[in-house]
Amino acid sequence: MTKINMSSSARLFMSRWLWSAMVLCAPLPSVAADARLLDAGKQIYEDGNTESGVPACAGCHKSDGAGNKIFPRLSGLQSTYVLQQLNAFKTGRRAGNRLMITVGQRLTEGEMKAVSEYIAGL
Ligand code: HEC
Repeated sequence: MTKINMSSSARLFMSRWLWSAMVLCAPLPSVAADARLLDAGKQIYEDGNTESGVPACAGCHKSDGAGNKIFPRLSGLQSTYVLQQLNAFKTGRRAGNRLMITVGQRLTEGEMKAVSEYIAGL
């Protein structure tokens, strides 16, 4: 049997290489998951969900999230804040606007998360 003798520098090189390979590869699956989440969020934002009766957010808040005099600006908001507000509409904790309450009630948890992430990037 042949014994492979690695010098300590070769071993160090190998362990460094393995380490950087692990570090480089690790974020890939989550990047793909993020892209899927953003796609789903964009779909809700631009088109709503006709099956469950969620209106397109862009219809009021505008495609770029700038809003107008009546509908508030969403661009620049953090995803956590958006998610909290959507949940607050859903539970009625925030009850200023009937339509947003309906929106909150009709969005699934997954849709809420996705649209919040999408809005955070506007
Ligand atoms: C028919 C118009 C309309 C549509 C469609 C609409 N919104 Fe709204 N949205 C409003 C109005 C009006 C308010 C202000 C409510 C209030 O005063 O509490 C609001 C408020 C919000 C807020 C709170 C903003 C803040 O600064 O606290 C968020 C978040 C939001 N909408 C997200 C959405 C999302 C996500 C969708 C799509 C799923 C959507 N809206 C669809 C009219 C709309």
